[in-house]
Amino acid sequence: MTRARAAAPEDASEEASLPGQAGGAVPRHVAIIMDGNGRWADQRGLPRVAGHRAGAEAVRKTLRAAGECGVDTLTLYAFSSENWRRPEGEINDLKGLLGYYLERELDTLAKEGVRLKLIGDYGAFGPELVARLDRAVERLAENSRLTLVVALNYGSRSEIAGAARELARKASEGTLDPSAIDEEALAAELQTAGLPDLDLLIRTSGEVRLSNFLLWQAAYSEMLFTPVLWPDFDETAFKAAVAEFAARQRRFGGR
Ligand code: IPE
Ligand code: IPE
Ligand code: MG
Repeated sequence: MTRARAAAPEDASEEASLPGQAGGAVPRHVAIIMDGNGRWADQRGLPRVAGHRAGAEAVRKTLRAAGECGVDTLTLYAFSSENWRRPEGEINDLKGLLGYYLERELDTLAKEGVRLKLIGDYGAFGPELVARLDRAVERLAENSRLTLVVALNYGSRSEIAGAARELARKASEGTLDPSAIDEEALAAELQTAGLPDLDLLIRTSGEVRLSNFLLWQAAYSEMLFTPVLWPDFDETAFKAAVAEFAARQRRFGGR
């Protein structure tokens, strides 16, 4: 498999997004809907929190594999805006694990050149966790080997509505001509602005739906649904997904 960047034309940002370019290329931007923690725990007669804990280990393995493959951006769906429908105890477990792993992994992330970016309205997680999250983002801000994007209290429809609201605000205050609102202008107001186009979207656990994740961004990404439960996802699984992406032919409407 050739590394996408090795064969990069002058504008590397176009790399994996050109028609037909998936052949042999590494996806620049991979997103994952990390699903199946609860079922993994159920199968073992364990409480759901054990599944979430095991899921956090899968994140470490996946991140390492992404770095090794030369992926530029890895976006992980960690908490959806719909996950507030879960029992309070489980929500607290998830918040606790997030804070714990963040603290524990921060040095490793720094050493490995990982930059952290958060999308979603994570302010809802409370001042203490927000402060820890912001500190981590700040500490890793100068890194550039891999961008880890974590979606926290994220919902794609709300993100798109927010972008529309912002464009409307600019138009009404007269700093934006409504006729200048095009795809690029809207994308620039999304929380993913500035990230490479999404090349590959993976969902684990056998569910075949997007669950309000990256609806706009996934317009032309390749999709891969695997029955593997998230806690069982590892380096091998990630590399297999990247290999499958490389074997796909992207057409973008062409032929
Ligand atoms: C994914 O696993 C983790 C989050 C949504 C936070 P689930 O908790 O959804 O696991 P299942 O789908 O119930 O197996
Ligand atoms: C999607 O998984 C959200 C995350 C992985 C964070 P869910 O388990 O919440 O999705 P649904 O409810 O099955 O659609
Ligand atoms: Mg689920």
